[in-house]
Amino acid sequence: MEAPTESSENEQNTSAAAQPMSKNAQKRLLKQQRYETKKAEKKAQMKEHKKREAERKRKEWEEKLANVGAEERERLIEQKKELRKARMGKRSEEKGKKIERLQEARISGQNVVIDLEFAHLMNSTELHSLVQQIMYCYAVNGRCAVPAHMWLTGCHGEMQNELLRIPGYDKWIIEKEDRSYVEAFQDQKENLVYLTADSENILDELDPKAIYIIGGLVDRNRWKGITMKKAKEQGIRTAKLPIGNYLKMSSSQVLTVNQVVEILLKFMETKDWKDSFFQVIPQRKRCEAGTEDNAEEFAREASHEEEDEQMPGRQDEADINEGEDGQKIGSVEGQDSVSKEEQKAKRQCIET
Ligand SMILES: C[S@@+](CC[C@H](N)C(=O)[O-])C[C@H]1O[C@@H](n2cnc3c(N)ncnc32)[C@H](O)[C@@H]1O
Repeated sequence: MEAPTESSENEQNTSAAAQPMSKNAQKRLLKQQRYETKKAEKKAQMKEHKKREAERKRKEWEEKLANVGAEERERLIEQKKELRKARMGKRSEEKGKKIERLQEARISGQNVVIDLEFAHLMNSTELHSLVQQIMYCYAVNGRCAVPAHMWLTGCHGEMQNELLRIPGYDKWIIEKEDRSYVEAFQDQKENLVYLTADSENILDELDPKAIYIIGGLVDRNRWKGITMKKAKEQGIRTAKLPIGNYLKMSSSQVLTVNQVVEILLKFMETKDWKDSFFQVIPQRKRCEAGTEDNAEEFAREASHEEEDEQMPGRQDEADINEGEDGQKIGSVEGQDSVSKEEQKAKRQCIET
Protein backbone atom coordinates (compact mmCIF):
# COMPACT_ATOMS: atom_id res chain seq x y z
CA MET A 1 0.00 0.00 0.00
CA GLU A 2 1.29 3.43 -0.94
CA ALA A 3 1.92 5.58 2.13
CA PRO A 4 -0.12 8.78 2.06
CA THR A 5 1.85 11.83 1.10
CA GLU A 6 2.16 14.99 3.13
CA SER A 7 -0.08 16.87 0.70
CA SER A 8 -2.80 14.21 0.91
CA GLU A 9 -2.75 14.63 4.70
CA ASN A 10 -3.04 18.37 4.32
CA GLU A 11 -5.99 17.89 2.03
CA GLN A 12 -7.59 15.60 4.59
CA ASN A 13 -6.96 18.18 7.29
CA THR A 14 -8.47 20.98 5.26
CA SER A 15 -11.59 19.04 4.37
CA ALA A 16 -11.87 17.82 7.98
CA ALA A 17 -11.81 21.42 9.20
CA ALA A 18 -14.66 22.35 6.84
CA GLN A 19 -16.93 19.45 7.91
CA PRO A 20 -18.70 19.03 11.25
CA MET A 21 -16.99 16.60 13.58
CA SER A 22 -18.01 12.97 13.17
CA LYS A 23 -19.37 11.03 16.16
CA ASN A 24 -16.15 9.07 16.37
CA ALA A 25 -14.04 12.20 16.28
CA GLN A 26 -16.18 13.72 19.04
CA LYS A 27 -15.74 10.58 21.13
CA ARG A 28 -12.00 10.70 20.57
CA LEU A 29 -11.85 14.33 21.57
CA LEU A 30 -13.85 13.66 24.73
CA LYS A 31 -11.62 10.76 25.60
CA GLN A 32 -8.55 12.90 25.05
CA GLN A 33 -9.98 15.68 27.22
CA ARG A 34 -10.86 13.23 29.99
CA TYR A 35 -7.35 11.85 29.80
CA GLU A 36 -5.79 15.32 29.99
CA THR A 37 -7.91 16.19 33.03
CA LYS A 38 -6.99 12.95 34.77
CA LYS A 39 -3.33 13.50 33.98
CA ALA A 40 -3.39 17.01 35.42
CA GLU A 41 -5.17 15.75 38.55
CA LYS A 42 -2.63 13.04 39.02
CA LYS A 43 0.24 15.47 38.59
CA ALA A 44 -1.25 17.77 41.21
CA GLN A 45 -1.78 14.82 43.57
CA MET A 46 1.82 13.72 43.18
CA LYS A 47 3.07 17.23 43.82
CA GLU A 48 0.97 17.44 46.96
CA HIS A 49 2.15 14.03 48.13
CA LYS A 50 5.79 15.03 47.65
CA LYS A 51 5.24 18.23 49.59
CA ARG A 52 3.59 16.36 52.46
CA GLU A 53 6.37 13.80 52.56
CA ALA A 54 9.04 16.51 52.69
CA GLU A 55 7.16 18.23 55.48
CA ARG A 56 6.75 14.97 57.42
CA LYS A 57 10.46 14.22 57.15
CA ARG A 58 11.39 17.71 58.22
CA LYS A 59 9.17 17.46 61.31
CA GLU A 60 10.51 14.02 62.15
CA TRP A 61 14.03 15.37 61.98
CA GLU A 62 13.24 18.36 64.14
CA GLU A 63 11.55 16.17 66.75
CA LYS A 64 14.53 13.89 66.79
CA LEU A 65 16.85 16.83 67.43
CA ALA A 66 14.55 18.29 70.08
CA ASN A 67 14.62 15.04 72.06
CA VAL A 68 18.38 14.77 72.44
CA GLY A 69 21.05 16.69 74.26
CA ALA A 70 23.24 19.36 72.68
CA GLU A 71 26.17 17.04 72.09
CA GLU A 72 24.05 14.35 70.41
CA ARG A 73 22.35 17.02 68.32
CA GLU A 74 25.73 18.20 67.05
CA ARG A 75 26.66 14.64 66.22
CA LEU A 76 23.41 13.97 64.33
CA ILE A 77 23.73 17.17 62.30
CA GLU A 78 27.32 16.35 61.46
CA GLN A 79 26.34 12.80 60.49
CA LYS A 80 23.63 14.09 58.19
CA LYS A 81 26.04 16.50 56.53
CA GLU A 82 28.52 13.69 55.97
CA LEU A 83 25.85 11.46 54.48
CA ARG A 84 24.73 14.17 52.10
CA LYS A 85 28.33 14.87 51.10
CA ALA A 86 28.96 11.19 50.41
CA ARG A 87 25.76 10.91 48.38
CA MET A 88 26.64 13.93 46.31
CA GLY A 89 30.17 12.69 45.81
CA LYS A 90 28.90 9.36 44.56
CA ARG A 91 26.43 11.05 42.26
CA SER A 92 29.01 13.34 40.73
CA GLU A 93 31.42 10.42 40.33
CA GLU A 94 28.73 8.46 38.48
CA LYS A 95 27.93 11.50 36.38
CA GLY A 96 31.62 11.93 35.51
CA LYS A 97 31.86 8.29 34.43
CA LYS A 98 28.72 8.61 32.35
CA ILE A 99 30.11 11.68 30.60
CA GLU A 100 33.32 9.79 29.89
CA ARG A 101 31.39 6.86 28.42
CA LEU A 102 29.29 9.14 26.22
CA GLN A 103 32.37 11.06 25.04
CA GLU A 104 34.08 7.79 24.23
CA ALA A 105 30.99 6.70 22.27
CA ARG A 106 31.38 9.82 20.14
CA ILE A 107 34.71 8.46 18.97
CA SER A 108 34.11 4.74 18.68
CA GLY A 109 30.47 3.96 19.47
CA GLN A 110 27.95 2.29 17.20
CA ASN A 111 26.19 5.03 15.25
CA VAL A 112 22.45 5.12 15.89
CA VAL A 113 20.39 7.88 14.30
CA ILE A 114 16.89 9.02 15.16
CA ASP A 115 15.46 10.57 12.03
CA LEU A 116 13.39 13.60 13.02
CA GLU A 117 12.12 14.51 9.59
CA PHE A 118 8.58 13.31 10.28
CA ALA A 119 7.55 16.02 12.73
CA HIS A 120 4.98 17.42 10.28
CA LEU A 121 3.11 14.10 10.27
CA MET A 122 2.41 14.10 13.99
CA ASN A 123 -0.06 16.02 16.11
CA SER A 124 1.18 17.78 19.24
CA THR A 125 0.39 14.82 21.50
CA GLU A 126 2.36 12.48 19.30
CA LEU A 127 5.22 14.95 19.08
CA HIS A 128 5.26 15.21 22.85
CA SER A 129 5.27 11.44 23.08
CA LEU A 130 8.22 11.26 20.70
CA VAL A 131 10.13 13.75 22.85
CA GLN A 132 9.46 11.54 25.88
CA GLN A 133 10.76 8.56 23.94
CA ILE A 134 13.90 10.45 22.95
CA MET A 135 14.49 11.44 26.57
CA TYR A 136 14.10 7.84 27.54
CA CYS A 137 16.55 6.71 24.82
CA TYR A 138 19.12 9.23 26.00
CA ALA A 139 18.79 8.14 29.63
CA VAL A 140 19.07 4.44 28.78
CA ASN A 141 22.07 5.05 26.55
CA GLY A 142 23.80 6.96 29.33
CA ARG A 143 23.37 4.02 31.68
CA CYS A 144 24.98 1.54 29.26
CA ALA A 145 28.49 0.34 29.97
CA VAL A 146 29.21 0.80 26.27
CA PRO A 147 26.77 3.38 24.91
CA ALA A 148 25.95 4.04 21.28
CA HIS A 149 26.95 7.19 19.43
CA MET A 150 23.53 8.74 19.16
CA TRP A 151 22.37 11.26 16.60
CA LEU A 152 19.27 13.33 16.18
CA THR A 153 19.10 14.37 12.55
CA GLY A 154 16.68 16.68 10.79
CA CYS A 155 16.39 18.43 14.11
CA HIS A 156 14.78 21.79 13.47
CA GLY A 157 11.49 23.69 13.59
CA GLU A 158 8.77 22.54 15.94
CA MET A 159 10.62 19.36 16.78
CA GLN A 160 13.68 21.29 17.87
CA ASN A 161 11.55 23.71 19.89
CA GLU A 162 10.03 20.77 21.74
CA LEU A 163 13.45 19.30 22.45
CA LEU A 164 14.82 22.63 23.60
CA ARG A 165 12.13 22.67 26.28
CA ILE A 166 13.73 19.68 28.00
CA PRO A 167 15.70 20.98 30.97
CA GLY A 168 19.38 20.26 30.42
CA TYR A 169 18.95 19.34 26.75
CA ASP A 170 21.67 21.82 25.80
CA LYS A 171 24.17 19.72 27.76
CA TRP A 172 23.18 16.38 26.28
CA ILE A 173 26.08 14.46 24.82
CA ILE A 174 24.35 13.51 21.60
CA GLU A 175 24.79 14.80 18.06
CA LYS A 176 22.10 17.36 17.28
CA GLU A 177 22.01 17.76 13.54
CA ASP A 178 19.95 20.29 11.73
CA ARG A 179 20.77 18.44 8.50
CA SER A 180 19.23 15.17 7.37
CA TYR A 181 21.20 11.96 7.86
CA VAL A 182 21.84 11.82 4.12
CA GLU A 183 23.64 15.16 4.30
CA ALA A 184 25.32 14.50 7.61
CA PHE A 185 26.72 11.18 6.34
CA GLN A 186 27.07 12.09 2.67
CA ASP A 187 30.49 10.44 2.45
CA GLN A 188 29.21 7.21 4.03
CA LYS A 189 25.93 6.61 2.24
CA GLU A 190 26.81 2.95 1.73
CA ASN A 191 26.87 2.52 5.51
CA LEU A 192 23.40 3.90 6.12
CA VAL A 193 20.85 1.24 7.11
CA TYR A 194 17.27 2.30 7.72
CA LEU A 195 15.64 0.06 10.30
CA THR A 196 12.06 -0.58 9.34
CA ALA A 197 9.62 -3.34 10.15
CA ASP A 198 8.64 -3.38 6.45
CA SER A 199 12.06 -4.46 5.20
CA GLU A 200 12.62 -7.92 3.76
CA ASN A 201 16.15 -8.00 5.13
CA ILE A 202 16.65 -9.40 8.57
CA LEU A 203 19.25 -7.87 10.83
CA ASP A 204 21.43 -10.72 12.10
CA GLU A 205 24.40 -8.87 13.47
CA LEU A 206 25.27 -5.26 14.11
CA ASP A 207 27.94 -3.98 11.79
CA PRO A 208 30.18 -1.52 13.68
CA LYS A 209 30.61 0.48 10.46
CA ALA A 210 26.89 0.74 9.81
CA ILE A 211 24.82 3.75 10.74
CA TYR A 212 21.44 2.52 11.91
CA ILE A 213 18.56 4.89 11.36
CA ILE A 214 15.29 4.78 13.29
CA GLY A 215 12.23 6.70 12.16
CA GLY A 216 11.36 9.34 14.74
CA LEU A 217 7.66 8.76 14.42
CA VAL A 218 4.78 8.13 16.78
CA ASP A 219 1.90 7.22 14.52
CA ARG A 220 0.39 3.89 15.64
CA ASN A 221 1.43 2.87 12.16
CA ARG A 222 -1.00 5.30 10.56
CA TRP A 223 1.83 6.12 8.14
CA LYS A 224 2.29 2.51 7.19
CA GLY A 225 5.45 1.80 5.21
CA ILE A 226 6.62 5.40 5.23
CA THR A 227 10.19 4.69 6.34
CA MET A 228 10.56 1.83 3.86
CA LYS A 229 9.37 4.11 1.08
CA LYS A 230 11.75 6.86 2.14
CA ALA A 231 14.77 4.55 2.30
CA LYS A 232 13.93 3.04 -1.08
CA GLU A 233 13.66 6.47 -2.68
CA GLN A 234 16.98 7.49 -1.18
CA GLY A 235 18.67 4.26 -2.25
CA ILE A 236 19.53 3.33 1.30
CA ARG A 237 19.79 -0.20 2.65
CA THR A 238 17.04 -1.37 4.99
CA ALA A 239 16.70 -4.06 7.65
CA LYS A 240 14.18 -5.24 10.20
CA LEU A 241 14.84 -6.61 13.65
CA PRO A 242 14.82 -10.44 13.69
CA ILE A 243 11.77 -10.54 15.98
CA GLY A 244 10.03 -13.32 14.05
CA ASN A 245 13.01 -15.63 14.55
CA TYR A 246 12.63 -15.53 18.31
CA LEU A 247 9.08 -14.75 19.32
CA LYS A 248 5.53 -14.39 18.19
CA MET A 249 3.92 -11.04 18.58
CA SER A 250 0.27 -10.67 19.49
CA SER A 251 -0.02 -7.78 17.06
CA SER A 252 2.36 -6.18 14.55
CA GLN A 253 6.11 -6.17 14.81
CA VAL A 254 6.23 -2.39 14.69
CA LEU A 255 7.91 -1.15 17.84
CA THR A 256 8.35 2.29 19.32
CA VAL A 257 11.50 4.32 18.86
CA ASN A 258 12.64 3.77 22.44
CA GLN A 259 12.03 0.02 22.22
CA VAL A 260 14.14 -0.25 19.08
CA VAL A 261 16.95 1.81 20.62
CA GLU A 262 16.82 -0.23 23.80
CA ILE A 263 16.88 -3.53 21.89
CA LEU A 264 19.94 -2.37 19.93
CA LEU A 265 21.66 -1.33 23.14
CA LYS A 266 20.85 -4.63 24.84
CA PHE A 267 22.06 -6.56 21.81
CA MET A 268 25.30 -4.56 21.76
CA GLU A 269 25.85 -5.68 25.32
CA THR A 270 24.65 -9.28 25.18
CA LYS A 271 24.88 -10.28 21.51
CA ASP A 272 21.67 -12.16 22.21
CA TRP A 273 18.57 -11.10 20.26
CA LYS A 274 16.17 -13.30 22.15
CA ASP A 275 17.24 -11.96 25.48
CA SER A 276 17.13 -8.40 24.16
CA PHE A 277 13.58 -8.84 22.85
CA PHE A 278 12.35 -10.44 26.04
CA GLN A 279 13.84 -7.71 28.15
CA VAL A 280 12.36 -4.89 26.13
CA ILE A 281 9.12 -5.98 24.45
CA PRO A 282 6.27 -5.93 26.96
CA GLN A 283 4.63 -9.22 27.68
CA ARG A 284 1.23 -8.12 26.41
CA LYS A 285 2.72 -7.56 22.96
CA ARG A 286 4.07 -11.10 22.87
CA CYS A 287 2.15 -14.33 22.31
CA GLU A 288 2.72 -17.34 24.48
CA ALA A 289 5.79 -19.38 23.58
CA GLY A 290 5.72 -22.13 21.00
CA THR A 291 6.73 -25.48 22.36
CA GLU A 292 10.34 -26.11 23.15
CA ASP A 293 11.19 -23.09 25.27
CA ASN A 294 8.04 -22.95 27.35
CA ALA A 295 9.55 -23.53 30.76
CA GLU A 296 12.36 -21.10 30.21
CA GLU A 297 10.01 -18.55 28.76
CA PHE A 298 7.46 -18.77 31.54
CA ALA A 299 10.18 -18.37 34.13
CA ARG A 300 11.47 -15.31 32.34
CA GLU A 301 8.05 -13.84 31.91
CA ALA A 302 7.29 -14.32 35.57
CA SER A 303 10.41 -12.40 36.45
CA HIS A 304 9.59 -9.73 33.85
CA GLU A 305 6.12 -9.31 35.27
CA GLU A 306 7.79 -8.49 38.53
CA GLU A 307 10.10 -6.10 36.77
CA ASP A 308 7.15 -4.49 35.05
CA GLU A 309 5.81 -3.59 38.43
CA GLN A 310 9.06 -2.52 39.98
CA MET A 311 10.79 -1.05 36.97
CA PRO A 312 8.32 0.90 34.92
CA GLY A 313 10.79 1.44 32.11
CA ARG A 314 9.46 -1.24 29.81
CA GLN A 315 7.10 0.89 27.84
CA ASP A 316 5.54 0.58 24.50
CA GLU A 317 3.60 3.04 22.45
CA ALA A 318 0.41 2.22 24.33
CA ASP A 319 2.09 3.31 27.53
CA ILE A 320 3.81 6.37 26.22
CA ASN A 321 1.24 7.48 23.71
CA GLU A 322 -1.64 9.61 24.55
CA GLY A 323 -4.00 8.02 22.03
CA GLU A 324 -4.67 9.97 18.90
CA ASP A 325 -6.81 7.61 16.89
CA GLY A 326 -9.41 6.58 19.38
CA GLN A 327 -7.52 3.51 20.51
CA LYS A 328 -7.13 2.76 24.18
CA ILE A 329 -5.08 5.47 25.82
CA GLY A 330 -2.82 3.23 27.90
CA SER A 331 -3.95 1.47 31.03
CA VAL A 332 -3.89 3.11 34.42
CA GLU A 333 -0.89 0.98 35.12
CA GLY A 334 0.67 2.25 31.91
CA GLN A 335 -0.03 5.83 32.85
CA ASP A 336 1.61 5.32 36.20
CA SER A 337 4.56 3.82 34.47
CA VAL A 338 4.87 6.78 32.21
CA SER A 339 4.82 9.33 34.91
CA LYS A 340 7.39 7.48 37.01
CA GLU A 341 9.60 6.72 34.07
CA GLU A 342 9.13 10.17 32.64
CA GLN A 343 10.36 11.58 35.90
CA LYS A 344 13.25 9.18 36.05
CA ALA A 345 14.21 9.93 32.45
CA LYS A 346 13.81 13.65 33.05
CA ARG A 347 15.99 13.47 36.16
CA GLN A 348 18.68 11.58 34.32
CA CYS A 349 18.54 13.81 31.29
CA ILE A 350 18.78 16.92 33.41
CA GLU A 351 21.69 15.51 35.35
CA THR A 352 24.02 15.13 32.38
C1 LIG B 1 6.62 3.67 15.67
S1 LIG B 1 7.69 3.11 14.44
C2 LIG B 1 7.14 4.02 13.05
C3 LIG B 1 6.32 3.23 12.11
C4 LIG B 1 6.17 3.89 10.77
N1 LIG B 1 4.83 3.74 10.29
C5 LIG B 1 7.15 3.38 9.75
O1 LIG B 1 6.76 3.18 8.61
O2 LIG B 1 8.32 3.17 10.09
C6 LIG B 1 9.21 3.90 14.83
C7 LIG B 1 10.44 3.40 14.13
O3 LIG B 1 11.01 2.29 14.82
C8 LIG B 1 11.69 1.44 13.91
N2 LIG B 1 11.08 0.11 14.00
C9 LIG B 1 9.93 -0.23 14.61
N3 LIG B 1 9.72 -1.55 14.55
C10 LIG B 1 10.78 -2.07 13.90
C11 LIG B 1 11.15 -3.40 13.52
N4 LIG B 1 10.40 -4.45 13.82
N5 LIG B 1 12.31 -3.57 12.84
C12 LIG B 1 13.10 -2.50 12.54
N6 LIG B 1 12.80 -1.24 12.88
C13 LIG B 1 11.67 -1.02 13.53
C14 LIG B 1 11.51 2.05 12.54
O4 LIG B 1 12.65 2.81 12.23
C15 LIG B 1 10.29 2.92 12.73
O5 LIG B 1 10.27 3.98 11.81
